[in-house]
Amino acid sequence: MKKELKISAIKDGTVIDHIPSDAAFKVASILNLKDTKNTVSIATNLKSKRTGKKGIIKVAGKTLTKDEVNKISVVAPHATVNIINNYEVKEKIKVNVPDVFNKIIKCSNPNCITNDEDVKTKFYVVKKEPLKIKCHYCERGMEKEEIELV
Ligand code: CTP
Ligand code: ZN
Repeated sequence: MKKELKISAIKDGTVIDHIPSDAAFKVASILNLKDTKNTVSIATNLKSKRTGKKGIIKVAGKTLTKDEVNKISVVAPHATVNIINNYEVKEKIKVNVPDVFNKIIKCSNPNCITNDEDVKTKFYVVKKEPLKIKCHYCERGMEKEEIELV
């Protein structure tokens, strides 16, 4: 008898798969899932061939914006985003750290112009893993642990 309980397949929506287990709730907060009215399933510490343990999030009736995918790349650079249409995986996007982050990250330098005026932040990716970025305006370097998403 099979005793393992699997999360059900979804009909329409998005499945974010291969999330590092410790980042699953961060991804949930990036997507503001506590406010959604649709069915949301979050699982962590699932066995994975690739990473040992993984998290997975399924959200019915939602597609992700480019900004949301870029934010996810900060905490889960190897996740995959599957777009489900009528029970089928219509598109599988590998989350990828972009070369430039526009407006989604807050600069940690209190004197940076982006913290003072209505200027959208812009960071260049210096290193993808572990993530290192540099502010376009004040040149402040930031590492993954210091990154605060807006
Ligand atoms: N999935 C789902 N509902 C569907 C179809 C797929 O929840 N109607 C989920 C699957 O459980 C899986 C993810 O979406 O977690 C991707 O599905 P699929 O590409 O079929 O699985 P894999 O081949 O295992 O994906 P990968 O190669 O990315 O590991
Ligand atoms: Zn700055």
